[in-house]
Amino acid sequence: MERIFVGVAWPYANGSLHLGTLAGALLPGDIFARYHRMKGNLVLMVSGSDEHGTPITITAEKEGVSPKEIVDRYHEEHVKNIHELGIKFDNFSRTSNEFHKNVVKDFFLTLYEKGYIYPKKMKSFYCPNCNRFLPDRYVEGTCPHCGGRARGDQCEECGATLEPEEIIEPKCKICGATPVLKETEHLFFKLSDFEEPLLKWLEDKTWWRDNVMKFTMNFIKSGLKDRAITRDLDWGVEVPLKGYENKRIYVWFDAVIGYLSASMEWAEKAGKPDEWKKWWMEEAKHYYFLAKDNIPFHTVIWPSMLMAHGELNLPYDVPANEFLTMSGKQFSKSRGIGIWIPDILRKFDADAVRYYLSINMPEKHDTDWTWEDFIAKNNNELVAIYGNFIHRVLTFVSKNFGEVPEKEENEGREVLEEVHSLVREIGEDIEKCHFKEGMKKIMRIAQIGNQYMNSMAPWKLIKEDKQKCGSVLHVCLQIVKALAIASAPYMPQAAQSIWNMLGYVDRIDGHSWDDAMKDIERNRIGEPVPLFRKIDMEEVAEEPASKLDMRVALIEDVKDHPNADRLYVLKISLGNEKRRLVAGLKAWYSPEELKGRKIVLLANLKPAKLRGVLSEGMLLAADDGKRAYLLTPNAKEGSRVFFDGIEHEPAKEITYEEFRKIKIITQNGKVVYKEHVMKDKGGEIGIDGSVPDGCIIR
Ligand code: MF3
Ligand code: ZN
Repeated sequence: MERIFVGVAWPYANGSLHLGTLAGALLPGDIFARYHRMKGNLVLMVSGSDEHGTPITITAEKEGVSPKEIVDRYHEEHVKNIHELGIKFDNFSRTSNEFHKNVVKDFFLTLYEKGYIYPKKMKSFYCPNCNRFLPDRYVEGTCPHCGGRARGDQCEECGATLEPEEIIEPKCKICGATPVLKETEHLFFKLSDFEEPLLKWLEDKTWWRDNVMKFTMNFIKSGLKDRAITRDLDWGVEVPLKGYENKRIYVWFDAVIGYLSASMEWAEKAGKPDEWKKWWMEEAKHYYFLAKDNIPFHTVIWPSMLMAHGELNLPYDVPANEFLTMSGKQFSKSRGIGIWIPDILRKFDADAVRYYLSINMPEKHDTDWTWEDFIAKNNNELVAIYGNFIHRVLTFVSKNFGEVPEKEENEGREVLEEVHSLVREIGEDIEKCHFKEGMKKIMRIAQIGNQYMNSMAPWKLIKEDKQKCGSVLHVCLQIVKALAIASAPYMPQAAQSIWNMLGYVDRIDGHSWDDAMKDIERNRIGEPVPLFRKIDMEEVAEEPASKLDMRVALIEDVKDHPNADRLYVLKISLGNEKRRLVAGLKAWYSPEELKGRKIVLLANLKPAKLRGVLSEGMLLAADDGKRAYLLTPNAKEGSRVFFDGIEHEPAKEITYEEFRKIKIITQNGKVVYKEHVMKDKGGEIGIDGSVPDGCIIR
């Protein structure tokens, strides 16, 4: 029996989970943990919502709400989705809770007292326009290493961690101005002290994935600099030292300590407050599951922090995954590219998604999610091979025997040996974190089962030799049993259904992995239900209206268009962003009527020049063929406007042609699209005056 710690990267609570997070971290972690539990090992698996730092504050500012509102919303959603996905944590915590913050402060003070944290003057970006220091993601620019898009502390493309002064052509994310470097004091972690100890620790890690080891070595060999671990923010863990009341601990320093705090919190909740020590201070293997952009934080920074602290176990393996792309593009919350877990769970079985991501897991290189391939693998493999084998065996037994029939001594010995040795291999694959390979072998077992059944043709035997027929079916049922157990780490819900259909009443995950090799009990077998269903292409068609980015905007200024009699040029505010719009309202609204008014803006319409003036978006109004009526939002400028019941997944940009195809009309003084009413946080959006039904919104 071994102790195994499974740490899964903490998703930011600034948006819904997407398939990239599932494929990169959650799913491999869950498969691994479920397998080891069935092997009888002692597993502690933790993660939580990463709730601090600029990813959160930027989202909050964009929506015009508090950071707390954002993290509460998404933490709750994460917990729900993780449950629906069948991901089984011992503790899925959050970094904004007091318990975690106290552990971070203690950890910080230990390092401070040991001399690993010290104050230093540094240059940091300051936006002269916003009058504030700009932490991390408030600065955007170009990566000096790869030329990709850099977001403050990290390049989105190559994953390099960046110091502010390295970024090329930096811009303030809030206002677009060019920030200046200004002196300020921050606390630094002595990362430079750990170059030697890290290299030594890495020496024997021959089992690490090549890409992870390479990245880590390059990172260390390019020179480890001390890193600022405080930021000019008011959202985050307070610095437990005098004089730093206006700063907060850097989100990454805080988040990685979450692995420890969530373990301690788990022990506390279980009423055995010291139990975590068995994983952190006694012999245990620590595995961390994450996508490649998180590698340096887990293979360099966190291990250094642990060494600085002392007495705590270091990672044993960090089998980081590459990226899952979406029809060739990298998933990105900030750019709105991806498939969101709440959406996909509304449409499809969690285990169908788990299957496709397992068989297509980005282990050695990036893999691509395409709907065509998802449907093909679901229909042609999961349904047609796996589901079909199980279903035909169970239907036949249920109809002709009603229970597991008796088996003659040597019946199916060879086929069972083949299946059992595959199950053992699957176990070894999972231990080595070769999840894709393991999943393939599960499919192989289903194929073998199908072939065996075809060659034995029990539908013929039943007429000639019922005894022999029963014996053959016993073998088939034993294969189904092995299949159920081998599938349990990958597709836990399906495995449980198979288990129940095999006449067992307990939980499959309470069984040992090695039970897959044991004979099946003489259970009663009832009428089976199909496990998976076929999916057709129509079900994955996207809802075009979800692509609209509609926002409340405030008109701040109105001018006549220099070259057009019927047009105004408006200056509008979206809270922390200003834009210019060209609008054809002159015939119906005076500048006085417009100034200070709130409108609904289509914010992601491709900017276009209208008679020589660039319009950055379009205001939405109802048109009855004679005049325009403005819409009347309720919420603060910057707030989202959406259609009730339609997922809000704005595209980066949409064209006017695409917009025109989305038929939004007036109905009983409301704005509707199909049966969905347009709303903002304050309720339904109204319309000026008394508008007839059926006006087009444009
Ligand atoms: N929130 C980070 C991300 O999504 C991952 C944090 S992993 C942690 O990239 F463990 F350090 F929290
Ligand atoms: Zn600025």
